[in-house]
Amino acid sequence: MIYLKTPEEIERMREAAILVSRTLGEVARWITPGVTTLKLDAIAREFIRDNGGRPACLGYEGFPGTLCIEVNETVVHGFPSNYALREGDIIGVDTVVEKDGFMGDTCYTFAVGDIDPMLMDLCKTTKESLYIGIETCRPGHRIGDIANAVQTYCEHRGYSVVREMCGHGIGRSMHEAPEVPNYGRRGTGSVIRNGMCICIEPMINMGSRNIVIERDGWTCRTKDRKPSAHYEHTLAVTDDHVEILTTFDYIQEVLKDRFI
Ligand code: MF3
Ligand code: CO
Ligand code: CO
Repeated sequence: MIYLKTPEEIERMREAAILVSRTLGEVARWITPGVTTLKLDAIAREFIRDNGGRPACLGYEGFPGTLCIEVNETVVHGFPSNYALREGDIIGVDTVVEKDGFMGDTCYTFAVGDIDPMLMDLCKTTKESLYIGIETCRPGHRIGDIANAVQTYCEHRGYSVVREMCGHGIGRSMHEAPEVPNYGRRGTGSVIRNGMCICIEPMINMGSRNIVIERDGWTCRTKDRKPSAHYEHTLAVTDDHVEILTTFDYIQEVLKDRFI
């Protein structure tokens, strides 16, 4: 069942989305060689609480962190750990904040120092595919139109699309209907309507699309151990257009000319 939101509810979604976006802006200040991902996690947890939010990943179905940490071949759902970032890594940071009963969900893949141009292209293409998906999201279109746009964009550039993990509806819960896959056929899936709030989150691999889940039951990595990138925005469909509720502006303010 898809819960359509009232304008008042969308206003509360905006608040949660701004706080989760500011959280990644805060994390961005700390991304540098030598910092552990547990340190990033502590920074985010405190920032969210200091600003009247709840770190919604922490304890979600037993997840142990505030942040999902996605270094290099990790696709999604990696644990914060004592791993210290190294020059040349890419790190996806994905998190969800609850504020005043509503959720905001966003992810950004950062470069640690200088990275290989091939990694840069993977990140750039994945991020662009997110915006291509967003442009396709409008009332009357279908979820499959978004999915197909993301898939076509990435596959034409030689990358592969993870299929087992999807975007999703969002609201009072982190994951609501509908599922928003990153691959599929145009004209399929739910019709997009005013009041829908969804997350689009392409997870794009340099090598094959295959993934494995590690024995911790969470960490999802590429089977061939080649790198993967992930970006995510929370969106609301309102007044016959799409509004991007989360923003990478806080990250851009920190990264300046290093913003991809
Ligand atoms: N943020 C993830 C998503 O985009 C979900 C996090 S799972 C959790 O859907 F366990 F970490 F909460
Ligand atoms: Co997320
Ligand atoms: Co999500």
